[in-house]
Amino acid sequence: MTNIIDGKLAAQQIREQLSAKVDAFVDVNGITPNLTVILVGDNPASQVYVRNKIRQTQQVGMISNEIKLADNVSQTEILAHIARLNADHNVHGILVQLPLPKHIDEHAILEAIEPHKDVDGFHALNSGKLFSGLPGGLVPCTPQGCVILAKKALGDNLSGKHAVVLGRSNIVGKPVAMLLLQQNCTVTIAHSRTENIAQVVRGADIVIAAVGIANFVKGDWIKPGATVIDVGINRIFDEQQDKYTLVGDVDFAEVVKVAGAITPVPGGVGPMTIACLLENTFLAATHSL
Ligand code: GUN
Repeated sequence: MTNIIDGKLAAQQIREQLSAKVDAFVDVNGITPNLTVILVGDNPASQVYVRNKIRQTQQVGMISNEIKLADNVSQTEILAHIARLNADHNVHGILVQLPLPKHIDEHAILEAIEPHKDVDGFHALNSGKLFSGLPGGLVPCTPQGCVILAKKALGDNLSGKHAVVLGRSNIVGKPVAMLLLQQNCTVTIAHSRTENIAQVVRGADIVIAAVGIANFVKGDWIKPGATVIDVGINRIFDEQQDKYTLVGDVDFAEVVKVAGAITPVPGGVGPMTIACLLENTFLAATHSL
């Protein structure tokens, strides 16, 4: 039987443990960890993600504020908000929801966030620490969630496994490759220009799919028994159900018949991303003492 990895449950367990740690932290230090989220524009998916992030931050006993900015906001104005939050000792985590409108330089925004408050782990200092294996950095949330779920499926030990990462984004592909390397995996990063991608994936003990293409990974690409972690969240129109549904980058119906373990969409990596964000916010608060 294929193990359907329950990301919702794993995330709930993380939140329960964190909630106790937050209570103790507040008792001892008289400081409540604070995550402030900047949301630019009215992208419906981003609005849902931000709402969930804020609600769950509050549920574990931390403070969360939202700064909503119009789609036509200037880069200067966003930078002014970040400068103010960087200087505010009551704010421990700053998150700017992506994507940003086309007229905004995303790199300039992410690099302006004080690295100790960069709970997304996207600042060059944090990615530099991750790539060099230096301690004390904040690690991107989705990659962290992927590795936790892969370890759950494989009895905590990924050493020597061949991991194939599909996608080379700064948010998922590159950092998850580094985390898997830290776990002593043999790592291949495959992407849109990779030749014979199905053949490459067939060599994988662990597949991390983060390409943003609905149902991209097929059943006959998968080595029997492999662990498949699906990062994709794609909204497609389902003819049979006559409505829009969310599907991953993995063709679940096919792959579930071959894989040893697989994450569903929704209910797999998604909840873990937020759980890891909460952990990073708490970590940022502890580092602020
Ligand atoms: N948009 C999609 N994923 C993410 C994420 O992990 N962090 C931020 N800030 N924006 C996102």
